[in-house]
Amino acid sequence: MSQFAEEVGKRRTFGIISHPDAGKTTITEKLLLLGNAIQLAGTVKGKKTGRMATSDWMKMEQDRGISITTSVMQFPYKDRMVNLLDTPGHEDFSEDTYRTLTAVDSVLMVIDGAKGVEDRTVKLMDVCRLRDTPIFTFINKMDREVRDQIDVLDEIESVLKIKCAPITWPIGMGKAFRGVYNLYTDTIHLIQPGQASIVPDDVQIQGLNTDEARAELGADVVEEMIEEVELVRGGSYEFNLEEYLAGEMTPVFFGTALANFGIREMLNYFVEWAPAPISREAGDRTVLPTEEKFSGFIFKIQANMDPKHRDRIAFMRICSGTYSRGMKMRHSRLGKDIKVADAVTFLAGDRTNVEEAISGEIIGLHNHGTIQIGDTFTQGEDMRFTGIPHFAPELFKRVRLKDPLKMKQLQKGLQQLSEEGATQLFMPLNNNDLILGAVGVLQFDVVQQRLRDEYKVECIYEPISVSTARWVYCDDEKIFAEFKRKSAENLAVDGGGHLTYIAPTRVNLSLTQDRFPEVEFSATREH
Ligand code: G4P
Repeated sequence: MSQFAEEVGKRRTFGIISHPDAGKTTITEKLLLLGNAIQLAGTVKGKKTGRMATSDWMKMEQDRGISITTSVMQFPYKDRMVNLLDTPGHEDFSEDTYRTLTAVDSVLMVIDGAKGVEDRTVKLMDVCRLRDTPIFTFINKMDREVRDQIDVLDEIESVLKIKCAPITWPIGMGKAFRGVYNLYTDTIHLIQPGQASIVPDDVQIQGLNTDEARAELGADVVEEMIEEVELVRGGSYEFNLEEYLAGEMTPVFFGTALANFGIREMLNYFVEWAPAPISREAGDRTVLPTEEKFSGFIFKIQANMDPKHRDRIAFMRICSGTYSRGMKMRHSRLGKDIKVADAVTFLAGDRTNVEEAISGEIIGLHNHGTIQIGDTFTQGEDMRFTGIPHFAPELFKRVRLKDPLKMKQLQKGLQQLSEEGATQLFMPLNNNDLILGAVGVLQFDVVQQRLRDEYKVECIYEPISVSTARWVYCDDEKIFAEFKRKSAENLAVDGGGHLTYIAPTRVNLSLTQDRFPEVEFSATREH
């Protein structure tokens, strides 16, 4: 194996999926702690806001207890380089989450041990299914009075349609939670109280059926465990790496994120089993991560991450080769070469200039308006990565200014916020309306607040009778011209300059579709 392939093989790029409140933030924090990326746990939310304290919309995020931003965290662990992509948890941001999941190679699913499978997890699993993404499972909150965990595994298997292979099993729960037992190594890992904010001591007992285990846990607990373990072994699947990599089986781990236990026991396996960077489709060819020539795609754009810099960052997943500082990249969509001297990374939670980054890693490019979600960058090759769609919004509002003189700022703000992909802007061809489309209601509030904070414009929303939007295409220029003439009333361009049909009602849409069968009305837009 070449040295480059060996380096790529050390990368682990993943995201966490969970229902809100299951413990994603707490786990993220403990992962960073284990990776020595932060000194003291209890600071992930604080750290983010520390950097963005003056940004009120972050405060809104906190107030609502949701995570609007997608950030990238990189940390070394046991000779591996782990990249964790934070996925927004709120259901209004499903599109954003979807696109983030196109940039990972595997996911960690976090389940609340008391609640089991919740609906948001079901939806996110559906997204993972589209690519057979390999899934690790962590069942959290063992320090609470949780459900019978055999039931929870049954629920995961029946609802999420994936085979469960428990690797560890909890010893007790709630106040009586003592740690986990590794079913494969016959090792007991004991929870250490009072170590929530440091890398916890690794206290183990080799062998469940031993005097040492009985002395530590009590004979009753050990006998009960021996019986339970037999039951679990008999009733569950044995772990199989191939099935895991095919997305058909998930290894399951138990613990408590709050008390900082069980995560290391999982992470040690994660860095071994989780896939290294996988190949990506780019039209008619498959790009291998070990190819020497650089390529990558943009999965996320975020405005004003740092209020002091007022910049916009385009997040790029590197799919092959090496980014090195100052290199020239081909912007595929524009067919233009650009020189990138100042890409950023998120190592140890801080944005620092990177000299080099390779397949599987994420870099941030400063975007001055030329980069869109889905854009491909290469080292000269003319290709585009596929599978990073926009979804047609279902909710629409007309945006009005309180101060009409601020039209320029409003347009700029809306344009930039729509580039991030959380919301979409439509400008009708035959009037000056600005129509905002979103997948969820909350996005309207976010836009309003961010316009106020970041662009100093006050806007109000007005209802508008738009029911849905479709991107339109047609190969036959004559028919397309006829369509455009007849439908001028309902046509608009979106933030990316694409022609869109804005349908006042579903019925109108289907009538128009019937009238112009040659025109394609698409509910998603590939880039
Ligand atoms: P999320 O990002 O998935 O939404 O979840 P988050 O980590 O914010 O956790 C949600 C709540 O669950 C938090 O409590 C958190 O402290 C708690 N929690 C996380 N892991 C565990 C665990 O292992 N055991 C127990 N008992 N609780 C856990 P909160 O009261 O909503 O917030 P906070 O005031 O503690 O920050």
